[in-house]
Amino acid sequence: MLPPIVTSTPEQWHQRKSLGAFYSPQTLVDPLVAWAVTGADQSVLDPSCGDGVFLEATARRLRDLGADPERTASLLHAVDLNPDAARITRDRLASRIGLPFENVRVASFFSLPPPGFLFGPPEGVDVVIGNPPYIRYQEFAGGSRLEALERASDAGVRLTRLASSWAHFVVHAGAFLRPKGRLALILPAELIHTTYAAPLREHLRCSFEEIHIVSFRQAVFPGVQEEVVLLLAAGKGKGPGRLGLIEVETGADLADLGDVLMGAEVFAPGEAPQKWIPGYTDHPGVITLEHLRSRGFLSPLADLGKANIGFVSGANEYFVLGPEEAAHWCLPESSLRPALIRARQIPGLQITSADIALVKSRGERCLLWLPGERLTSAEQTYIQRGEDLGYARRYKCRVRSPWFRVPGVMAPEAFLTYMSDVVPRLCLNRARVVSSNTLLNIRLSGVPAALRRPFVTAFYNSATLLSCERVGRSYGGGVLKLEPREADRILIPSPSLVARHKESLMGLTAKVDAALRGGREGCLEAAVEAVDAILFAGGRIAHGEMASARVSLHERRQSRAASSRNGHKNRGA
Ligand SMILES: C[S@@+](CC[C@H](N)C(=O)[O-])C[C@H]1O[C@@H](n2cnc3c(N)ncnc32)[C@H](O)[C@@H]1O
Repeated sequence: MLPPIVTSTPEQWHQRKSLGAFYSPQTLVDPLVAWAVTGADQSVLDPSCGDGVFLEATARRLRDLGADPERTASLLHAVDLNPDAARITRDRLASRIGLPFENVRVASFFSLPPPGFLFGPPEGVDVVIGNPPYIRYQEFAGGSRLEALERASDAGVRLTRLASSWAHFVVHAGAFLRPKGRLALILPAELIHTTYAAPLREHLRCSFEEIHIVSFRQAVFPGVQEEVVLLLAAGKGKGPGRLGLIEVETGADLADLGDVLMGAEVFAPGEAPQKWIPGYTDHPGVITLEHLRSRGFLSPLADLGKANIGFVSGANEYFVLGPEEAAHWCLPESSLRPALIRARQIPGLQITSADIALVKSRGERCLLWLPGERLTSAEQTYIQRGEDLGYARRYKCRVRSPWFRVPGVMAPEAFLTYMSDVVPRLCLNRARVVSSNTLLNIRLSGVPAALRRPFVTAFYNSATLLSCERVGRSYGGGVLKLEPREADRILIPSPSLVARHKESLMGLTAKVDAALRGGREGCLEAAVEAVDAILFAGGRIAHGEMASARVSLHERRQSRAASSRNGHKNRGA
């Protein structure tokens, strides 16, 4: 039996995660209900009702619009997988309406075929509202996932295996709406920027006459790192329609949602921005970026090289040893490769053998054991130890042969941080070290060896850093994440631009390196300005606009980090 309120205490965190249950703050619920419910006779479904917060607000709204208690009780419908959530909703609604409330079904929403499955009208409901469960694809498995995939494909949407539960939920929720109906949901910000949500974005555009996305500069779920957006879709069946994007500071700015929506950046039915991020498309800095690309000053990384993940050992704690541990097990030097396993091991513009010696002297794990064909007796003992400790049975190990030889180990020309706080860091690999998948491995075959140092210095310019902010994904906590495919799209200075400014860039190498090593944001900003001045000022390019576009995307990320940190503090207090 599940505890009564499944989301209220930290001890219930795990259960909360597995049900995707983060309950909605009233500051978001009330404006959504007011926007979605416009008449006293409208039927409303919350397909993942939790403790019934949306339907309680809807009951109030219907009463204000003139519906009597009997009518209200018949217009509202709820579903939740969790019997306790359903019970709480039933009690809460009964006490709000003043009549027994029975329209609550304990079921997985995916098990219910649309429409008119329940007690509602057979042609579907007027409004679907709520906050769907957010279960990441790694945990979203088994029958429930297959059912969800089937529901999405019934509606003509093909979602990849990377899609989290909320995406299937949105597609299925739309199928319960009658023509002209409205959808009002709180969703993870992944809706607006991830590749896996692209088919969903297209489906929504095709299905509704009007869509609005409201995003937030500050975290709105205190203590929860997930960024959220509001999806407001009206006119089911009358798409493709207009798309409006708008960003506000916090939920408190939504008191007059109608007014807020008037200020949206609007796209006509035929216009389909790649991502649904406000200010992403029409900022003058972004236009300059495209201009630089078309003039050949910038090229996508994929034109000059390639980003890959580093090695996947399956057990870094076994395969990557500290110097003392390697000596203890008498592993031969010939089978130990210097390796990086942490982003912070990237020092500055380049990593040299002196940097590696420093890492070793701190006793950090930095030696990848990569045995050759002939094993020494010490290595055989170490293999036995790995088997005794169960490493050989780990998934990544047992699917390769032999289990103890890590595949795909290559020294790239450079490393790029995969998760970045201030800026992504590109670092030239002068020490020919290898890295685990905590860093991206960058091949730079299209950049001549003599240009690589000035090239890495030139990477720290506003255009490239703006392009990182655009292609990467901003996650809760303010982190910018770059997957290899995204990194391949970063716009980097073309070799001809770097060659033209080679001497001046070499003169800046020490300044940029020191700024990166010092880890001080102010110094880094000054270094970026200096690189901009070299690369762009001569060509009379409006680099100020790119710098301001980058700073605004960067601040957008950071303000979320700050507000979610405050949320954590407040919760702990
Ligand atoms: C994010 S909470 C939202 C609850 C509530 N609507 C709110 O906004 O506060 C998600 C809810 O979805 C429920 N849930 C998880 N998987 C579900 C499924 N397959 N079908 C229906 N409900 C589900 C969880 O029990 C949880 O109550």
